[in-house]
Amino acid sequence: MRIGIPAEIMNGESRVAATPASVRTLVQDGHEVLVQQGAGAGASFFDEEYANSGATVVDSAQQVWESAQLVLKVKEPLEEEYGYLREDLVLFTYLHLAASKQLTQALLDSGCTALAYETVTDRHGGLPLLTPMSQVAGRLAVIEGAHHLMSTQGGRGVLLPGVPGTKPARVVVIGGGQVGASAVAMATGLRAEVTVLDLEPRILQHFDDLYQGRVRTQISDPVTLREELVEADLVIGAVLIPGAAAPKLVTEDMVKDMKPGAVLVDVAIDQGGCFENSRKTTHAEPTFKVHDTIFYCVANMPGAVANTSTRALTTATLNYVRDIAAEGVDGAFERSSGLRDGLMARGGKLLSEPVRKALDL
Ligand SMILES: NC(=O)c1ccc[n+]([C@@H]2O[C@H](COP(=O)([O-])OP(=O)(O)OC[C@H]3O[C@@H](n4cnc5c(N)ncnc54)[C@H](O)[C@@H]3O)[C@@H](O)[C@H]2O)c1
Repeated sequence: MRIGIPAEIMNGESRVAATPASVRTLVQDGHEVLVQQGAGAGASFFDEEYANSGATVVDSAQQVWESAQLVLKVKEPLEEEYGYLREDLVLFTYLHLAASKQLTQALLDSGCTALAYETVTDRHGGLPLLTPMSQVAGRLAVIEGAHHLMSTQGGRGVLLPGVPGTKPARVVVIGGGQVGASAVAMATGLRAEVTVLDLEPRILQHFDDLYQGRVRTQISDPVTLREELVEADLVIGAVLIPGAAAPKLVTEDMVKDMKPGAVLVDVAIDQGGCFENSRKTTHAEPTFKVHDTIFYCVANMPGAVANTSTRALTTATLNYVRDIAAEGVDGAFERSSGLRDGLMARGGKLLSEPVRKALDL
């Protein structure tokens, strides 16, 4: 099969969908791989390494999209890429369709086969292609939060761990899944005072066992959330209802009562965000003010640490890519039924019920 790796064009997105090592594996499997010139440079993977791995390095995105049968990307296609979509193309990337009617419509109009990384499941019901990026984003959420809490950034001027004789910062993590667990690990590692909220007692039990009472656990409901928010210096939104738009848990009214200079990082922004006032931001302009607080809503957080993220992502995607390239999409579904959960659109039909509901299609 001819596999294409275009450069990512989203602001601040330096990840790439394949490393030179994964290209080598695909070439050894007998496939032809086209990589757009410079596609991996932002992640410190260079054209020469791709060429040495057996890829054909081509000048333009157009050459990649037009000649490839299977296109691997990281982020969803942007408007300027819609024209490349076509019926006999298989696209495998993050799509987050519940957050974009326009993209969903473009995929349907083209008739292409669109597989979303984020809804592929494994045998245990986990999300193997979302997990590595969630682990990156959860860790980064604390680093970005700590940065924007600085007075120089307009934040409360609070150092997460404090120093002897001062209180540590209060960090509230909403959702105790992959993002949440990574954020809790970082925040406790930096000696902040951490509360995690989730709907599932089983998840809270896990935190309680793991941290032996050093992390406060709360069942997530609006009253408890409001109580936690008024005390918080840093809030991390990390909820997910797979495939669906994120529920708006933090309302504007709650934000009004928060401490001035508190920072709210909405990691769930790629699913529309779990704070009422969230809107997507970019690495170039990551924050905006809501009342006296600072919102950070970057939809592609892992793009900021592109080398680590690319390695983590491609390690997870490679086996699925090998199956699709060897057997075609239907053959790959036979080998791994969880891959079928990634199928969003094919031949002009929308195949995800949560997306249909979220977009009212
Ligand atoms: N912005 C980015 O760059 C970026 C990167 C990676 C992941 N994400 C997003 O982060 C979000 C979380 O991903 P994840 O991998 O941690 O998902 P996950 O499924 O592992 O965890 C989600 C958790 O949210 C909990 N939850 C659901 N509704 C809740 C509610 N009302 N209150 C409290 N908790 C609730 C679930 O019980 C679950 O534990 C997703 O939207 C994902 O797409 C964003």
